[in-house]
Parts: sequence; C-alpha cells; structure tokens
Amino acid sequence: MAKQRVLTGITTTGTPHLGNYVGAIRPSIAASQDSTLDSFFFLADYHALIKGQGPELVRQSTKEIAATWLALGLDTDHALFYRQSDIPEIPELTWVLNCNAAKGLMNRAHAYKAAVQANEDAGEDPDFAITMGLFSYPVLMAADILMFNANSIPVGRDQIQHVEMARDIAGRFNHNFAEVFTLPVAAVDDNVAVLQGLDGRKMSKSYNNTIPLFLPEKKLRKHINKIKTNLLEPGEPKDPDDSTVFQVWAAFADAAETARMRKAFEEGIAWGEAKKQLFELIDAELAPARVRYDELMEDPGHIESELLKGAERAREHSSALMAKVRDAVGISRIR
Ligand code: TRP
Repeated sequence: MAKQRVLTGITTTGTPHLGNYVGAIRPSIAASQDSTLDSFFFLADYHALIKGQGPELVRQSTKEIAATWLALGLDTDHALFYRQSDIPEIPELTWVLNCNAAKGLMNRAHAYKAAVQANEDAGEDPDFAITMGLFSYPVLMAADILMFNANSIPVGRDQIQHVEMARDIAGRFNHNFAEVFTLPVAAVDDNVAVLQGLDGRKMSKSYNNTIPLFLPEKKLRKHINKIKTNLLEPGEPKDPDDSTVFQVWAAFADAAETARMRKAFEEGIAWGEAKKQLFELIDAELAPARVRYDELMEDPGHIESELLKGAERAREHSSALMAKVRDAVGISRIR
C-alpha cells in the first residue's frame, strides 16, 4: 500500500508562539518521524500576502518560522520542507482550479463571510477592503494540497472547511477531465491541546496574548509571570481545571508530573511557585532548540539552502503533476 501522505502549510505571518508549538509544530515533527507516513510541510508565503501586513513582516516571519522548524529538529532529508513561492506550479495550478471552482462555493467560505458580515455591521459596503486574494484563498490552498496528492491534512478546526473545498474542487476536476487528483481529508486531532494565552482565551496572535516560543530565558520567565490568575492566597486550594497556568503545564508535562501539579493545586500551591515551576518545565524542553534557533537566525544562508533543497525535491512532484493537469485541460504542444 502506498504511504499516507500528510501535508500542511504554515502562513508566514507572525512569530511562532507556544500555542503554535503545542498545537501544530510539535505534533507535526513527531509525525514526520513515522516511517509509515510521507510528510510535506511548507511556508505559505503567498497566503501571507492576503493579510496585507507588508513586505518586512512577511520576510521576517518566513525566516523565523523556517528557523523554528529546523531548530526543533525537523529532519529535512525525510520530510519535505519548502516555501510555497519556490514552487511556480502552485500559482499555475491555482489558475486552472479557479476555472473549475464554483463562485458559489467560495461565497460560503467562513473567512470571507465573516469579513462581509463585519462590513455590514459597520455600515460599510459589503465588499469594503475585501481583495480577490481573500475571496479565492481556498483555491490557492486547494492547489497547495492537490499539487502533492496529499491524503491527510492536519489542520485546526477553522481550516476544515477549506480542506473540504479542496476535496470538492478535486472531485469536480476529476469528473470533468481526468482522474488526476487524490481527494484529501482534514485530520483534526482532538488530543492536541489548544493552548490558552496570557488572558485565558485561546493563545492567538489576533488576541495579542501569546508567549513567543524562543524568548530569551529572562523574557520567557516574565511572560509566564504575566499569565492571568485569581486572587487566592498561598495555602488556599486552587482549581486546576480553571487555571491557565495548569492548562499550559499539562501541555508540557507527562502524566505523572501533571498529576503531581494537580495535587499541588488542591493543596494550595502559591501562584508564584506554580509559575516558577512552569517556567522551569518549559525552559527545560525548549532551551536546547533555542540555542540552535539563535544560531540559525544568524546563519540565513543555511536556512535558505534547506528550503531550496526542499523545493528541488518538491518540484519533482509538482512539475510531473502539472504536466498531467495541463494535458488534461488541453494545454499542450501543437501536434
Ligand atoms: N490556511 C492555513 C492556515 O491559515 C495555512 C495553509 C495554507 C494550509 N495552505 C495550506 C494548511 C494547505 C493546510 C494545507 O492555517
């Protein structure tokens, strides 16, 4: 049986934080070590343009995200690790898929609908500030996925609809032209923690409540000290299930350490002490990778060569697939 092909993209907006690490990076790197799977991970820098944050932020984020995955030990001889924009067949396929994707399907995309709704709520024109990039975002994402015949797409819940759209577009193309595409399925892992941020809501750049992954030690400690707690005094029992400190602890600790901390909460551990232990736990897991991260950030040539190596391997797949697609739709040499 052919190996399962796992593929996921990371939009290059922002600096990786603990939530990204626990929810996506750590499980992806672990999966890439599974020899029954073929892994494809890529930096979705064309997707980043949709957010319109400007060239410097895209450049910086691309570098930081690449350095992060490499520092955490992604084995790039095994997994394919590349930059979307290094694969010219992706925008090429995007156009062909655009010609096969129903506009009505795109009208139903959550992200687009939310943008329209926000405009209506603000009394604006429904299309205010909505670009074609935002509207056709799911088509670019479909091209990312279908290009490599991936079957399993690990994503957060907010992306399930996009994977379903890719599947829909693939089915339609296969029906109209030729059986070129594998139908992808979203893989949502309910065991992976959705980490809480400083204010107790989901850790997310849009809430400005994140703890960046590779902060220097002192700053990491400071951030952890900023996690919101209640006013219970040392000695007063605390509810672990209502605490961000405990929730983050559980995402980094093994079962025995989690049980120990649960008991400490019930016995009234002081918030300062719980946070001190949390800092030590996280720091111990991240410190070795942080050293490599700092080295990589000083050695962009190395990051670049890793990405180019990935792109070269990825293009063996993408150029072959694109040849099939072109042929299927009637774009070929005149014979
Ligand atoms: N849209 C995804 C996100 O914002 C990133 C992404 C782009 C992606 N292309 C993809 C994820 C292909 C999975 C497969 O999280």
